[in-house]
Amino acid sequence: MRTTDFASSFNAVAAEYAAARPDYPPHHYDTIEELLGRPLTGLRVLDVGAGTGKATRALLDRGARVTAVEPGAEMAAQLRAANRDATLVRGNGDALPFADSSVDLITYAQAWHWTRPEVALPEALRVLRGGGALALWWNRPDRTVAWVDEQAARLTKALPSHHVGDITRTVADHLTALEPALRPVYRETSWQRTVPLATHLKNLATHSSFAVLDPEQSRPVLAREAEILGALFPEGRIVEPYTVRLTYLPRPERPTPRGE
Ligand SMILES: C[S@@+](CC[C@H](N)C(=O)[O-])C[C@H]1O[C@@H](n2cnc3c(N)ncnc32)[C@H](O)[C@@H]1O
Repeated sequence: MRTTDFASSFNAVAAEYAAARPDYPPHHYDTIEELLGRPLTGLRVLDVGAGTGKATRALLDRGARVTAVEPGAEMAAQLRAANRDATLVRGNGDALPFADSSVDLITYAQAWHWTRPEVALPEALRVLRGGGALALWWNRPDRTVAWVDEQAARLTKALPSHHVGDITRTVADHLTALEPALRPVYRETSWQRTVPLATHLKNLATHSSFAVLDPEQSRPVLAREAEILGALFPEGRIVEPYTVRLTYLPRPERPTPRGE
């Protein structure tokens, strides 16, 4: 194993992440605007765990005033290279370097699970203004599709740390235990993309369960996927089905004081 630090494992695959990981569909951002009750235009947004900037880009394109917050040097370098108009701060969700009540929305795209929620939640509630919201989301492969489910089972068996479950509810349960005044709202957006097999494999390899491995460990697992999917999709193009699972948490009017 190359490193046991899963949260920083993305740095080793940052370029591949930028190239092969899926974005989030436009309808997902429509849903956020619907929950906000207004367009994102002009809102002060922190996109935390911004990575290579996939959500940052979409939020900027909707006119939000976004600050991307990213701890990883290589991920941040990718973000900077592709998004010259983004403001980037090196930091993480456990210690947000921002003033109290200074932003309207905090987003964590596929990143909240890398924080320590007992620290990152009070941090988010401190930095959000009254009436602001925290939006956490994950793009999950849709396991109601047979080949996706079969692949998930194979990868779980082959890679000890491969995670295929839906953590949305578990995360929200944990957050409401930490802050009983939270009232989570859940939304799902199903979508799909069609990519060459090579992109699909590159995407797989950017997951932390692969990224922490030495290449000689990950290579045979990827080769097996190439063989199986090559037979399933002989034309060489993979239709990847996803569901974006959003947990939207309006900031409680009076968050419970710490220690209560
Ligand atoms: C799966 S990537 C998601 C990147 C991006 N938001 C996206 O949607 O593609 C997870 C990101 O979380 C970052 N990260 C790790 N620990 C973190 C923490 N404690 N707080 C915030 N982000 C963290 C990693 O460096 C990585 O860039």
